[in-house]
Amino acid sequence: MTVMQPKIHVFVKQIIQETPSVKRFVLVSKEGADLPAFSAGSHVTTFLNTAAGTLERHYSLVQAPAITDHYEIAVQLHAQSQGGSAYWHHQVSEGTELFISYPKNHFSLSFRAKHHVFYAAGIGITPFLSMMAELVAQGRSFELHYAAKSREMCAFYETLQKTYRDSCHLYLSADPDSSRMRPDGMRQQRIGTHVYFCGPETMVNQFQEAARSYGYPQQSIHFELFAPPAPMLREPFLVELWQSKRTISVGSDQSLLAALLAAGIKSPYSCRVGRCGTCAVEVLSGEVAHYDSVLSEKERAAQDVMMTCVSRAVHNKLVLSL
Ligand code: FES
Repeated sequence: MTVMQPKIHVFVKQIIQETPSVKRFVLVSKEGADLPAFSAGSHVTTFLNTAAGTLERHYSLVQAPAITDHYEIAVQLHAQSQGGSAYWHHQVSEGTELFISYPKNHFSLSFRAKHHVFYAAGIGITPFLSMMAELVAQGRSFELHYAAKSREMCAFYETLQKTYRDSCHLYLSADPDSSRMRPDGMRQQRIGTHVYFCGPETMVNQFQEAARSYGYPQQSIHFELFAPPAPMLREPFLVELWQSKRTISVGSDQSLLAALLAAGIKSPYSCRVGRCGTCAVEVLSGEVAHYDSVLSEKERAAQDVMMTCVSRAVHNKLVLSL
């Protein structure tokens, strides 16, 4: 049995071409009602019915949280995509109906921060748009550092120039006159600053490591990943489910969560990238290779809980309490 999540029926009211590879979609309730309120940094899961099955993807809400008569998401077309982004770009049109989840937030603003510094690369700009709108509404201080290939490939360029010109620093990699976005600017920030990163995994990891090396406390470092971290181990393994009295196999190209769901095992989940802790399960025996960013070093060493969406077995078998 899988876990049913409540969904909202919406349709695509408008499509805006932000850049050659990014489209913004305006979603409106099919019932004509306002959509649920959300906090800055939230995302929704979209469920598109295709001939190949249901396409499930997560997208940040990019409008100000005060606006709830519609939602806006932005989708970047990935060159090799045969799934979500290609479908959104080539098959979805104004009027297309779909279901979305209620908003969830795994990347919220810290209201302990005295100053917020955002670092975005490419489509990683999206969660910061609702955050900046919220901070403007509250009169709080922030700055954005945003790396894109060029002015043409810089999603939301007009909005950033019009609304956040004084707080926004752009770094254009194809422009020889533009400087590169570097982490060392974090050194100059005042005590109480919180830093936020969103972009490719390599960039997020580099900036996180730099922030730690500059002495930022862990609770002042925030990040968002759109894809699960690449695991070092990819070997298939077996999982014995103690309560269910079943054994299932996990393929080399499959997550443990995917294997559990495919086997009809009740398995709550949310982010699927090791960030939220929803999919945590108790481990009774076996050694776990942890790839999440939820557990502390001490919790990892205890080897008694794991995130099924990203973590795997070190050897060929695990026993879980499920
Ligand atoms: S679903 Fe969020 S950590 Fe696994």
